[in-house]
Amino acid sequence: MVKTVADAWKILAADWDRLQSVHLREMFEDDAVRFSRFSASLDDLTIDYSKERVDAAAMAHLFDLARAADVEGRRDAMFAGAHINTTEDRAVLHVALRGVPEDGYQVDGQATADLVIPVLDAFLKFADDVRAEGRITDVVNIGIGGSDLGPVMAVRALSDFSVGGPNVHFVSNIDGAHLTDTLAGLNPETTMFIVASKTFTTQETMTNAQSAKDWLEAALGAGAAKAHFAAVSTNLEGTAAFGIAPERVFGFWGWVGGRYSLTSSIGLSLAMAIGGENFRAFLGGFRDMDQHFKTAPMVENLPMLLALIGIWRRNIMGCPTVGLIPYSQRLEKFAAYVQQMDMESNGKRVTKSGADVTTKTGPVIWGGAGTNVQHSFFQLIHQGTDIVPIDFMINAQANSDLADQHDILTANFLAQSHALAFGKTGQEVRAEMVEARVDPARIEALVPHRTFPGNRPSTSLLDRSLTPYSLGRLIALYEHKVFVQGVIWDVNSFDQWGVELGKVMATQLASMLDDGADLSSLNSSTRGLIEKIRVLKEH
Ligand code: F6P
Repeated sequence: MVKTVADAWKILAADWDRLQSVHLREMFEDDAVRFSRFSASLDDLTIDYSKERVDAAAMAHLFDLARAADVEGRRDAMFAGAHINTTEDRAVLHVALRGVPEDGYQVDGQATADLVIPVLDAFLKFADDVRAEGRITDVVNIGIGGSDLGPVMAVRALSDFSVGGPNVHFVSNIDGAHLTDTLAGLNPETTMFIVASKTFTTQETMTNAQSAKDWLEAALGAGAAKAHFAAVSTNLEGTAAFGIAPERVFGFWGWVGGRYSLTSSIGLSLAMAIGGENFRAFLGGFRDMDQHFKTAPMVENLPMLLALIGIWRRNIMGCPTVGLIPYSQRLEKFAAYVQQMDMESNGKRVTKSGADVTTKTGPVIWGGAGTNVQHSFFQLIHQGTDIVPIDFMINAQANSDLADQHDILTANFLAQSHALAFGKTGQEVRAEMVEARVDPARIEALVPHRTFPGNRPSTSLLDRSLTPYSLGRLIALYEHKVFVQGVIWDVNSFDQWGVELGKVMATQLASMLDDGADLSSLNSSTRGLIEKIRVLKEH
């Protein structure tokens, strides 16, 4: 039995010595039931990791690693409300946002249900009232990072469920073009703004919110903003200072991280789009995955499996990135959302105790929707020099009436994961061209170009359909995957000090853009760029 994390890493490295010369083709040839051996389900949701370059021994050793790192103990500590965000001395209890009172979540001695349920009821009622009244045709969510990416992703994903709701728009960038483009064509009389910011101090959000207020009051007169603004924040003093009426302010708590806040009142814009009932179904999907993560044995536990496969790819195979590729136009923004969740959480270089990490930590997360990506970056994934693991996602049911098109979409997903794993040998390429009567000299010239090495790993996530419930379950799966990996890497997944330096510098540099400001303290690159910007912006 492996006792230490260090021992577990050594054993896994030996597994890779054994497996790195084995092709996925051989693994499937040698095991007729590889799919059932290397897949797991929670109701309609299945994870197929049989196209990953693991065998049963490697999986057993990954579970040993998780045990040695006390993943289950740390998971239980999170659910119990321990202050696992040590650098900010906070509990991490986003799971309580979708809990029911019987779950018994507590934060610092207080039942979270007493806090969460009144706010949830209030913001869903507000959303349903706005929807029922029908006066507001457009809602603009102003927020950035965790106060934008989740809502924007989910509103797009669940557009089939937004019938009868207002149009919901999102403004995040400090680039004025984002706000200007969004407001063009909107009627101030029928527009509502939601200022979404955990801290209510974020430069981009506060600046955009002020500009939006100016736009509204220029059209409707001073004081008009009151009836057209709502806010979601933990900073109630800040919302009051901005002039937002207290009955239109929906709070949340320090123990909810920004990138884990979609199920708090940060979801107000989503609730406006899909209504309270659908929002509650969305929470239900999260809760079911939370319960599964909390109780399922490790070998059947979907977030643990996804996390351990990620550890294998990152630390054992040495892959620096992961592509998230939903075969779903509605999930077009899913990768951008998980990108913040994962990279802000596990993009860390020191352990919880402050020592330098001794393993690689979070990979670069990126992606886009299939089939579009097949016509952009998939060339490199199939034939480039780096191995790029892919998480594919597909729903069996269509999100449109064009069911035949969904079959083509599905076939493309199946084809890509097949081609990545199995490739096409030189022999197969040659035989195909001989059959097509291509000139022999040309055949030999083309074989290397038309050969696919294969043996490129992917995991496929299959669900029945895209609904509020299934989306909630999918998001919670990734949240808990990120948690498990953070435990194994021994980092604090819940702070984000790495974003601070640039924020401070931007504030200092803003005043230096003015003509006449002293640039002598700056490095020659920044000074040179500012000097050029000063000239170029005037002419
Ligand atoms: O800059 C990073 C960050 O702090 C994220 O963690 C957060 O989601 C985002 O900014 C927005 O913060 P807020 O919700 O406080 O405006």
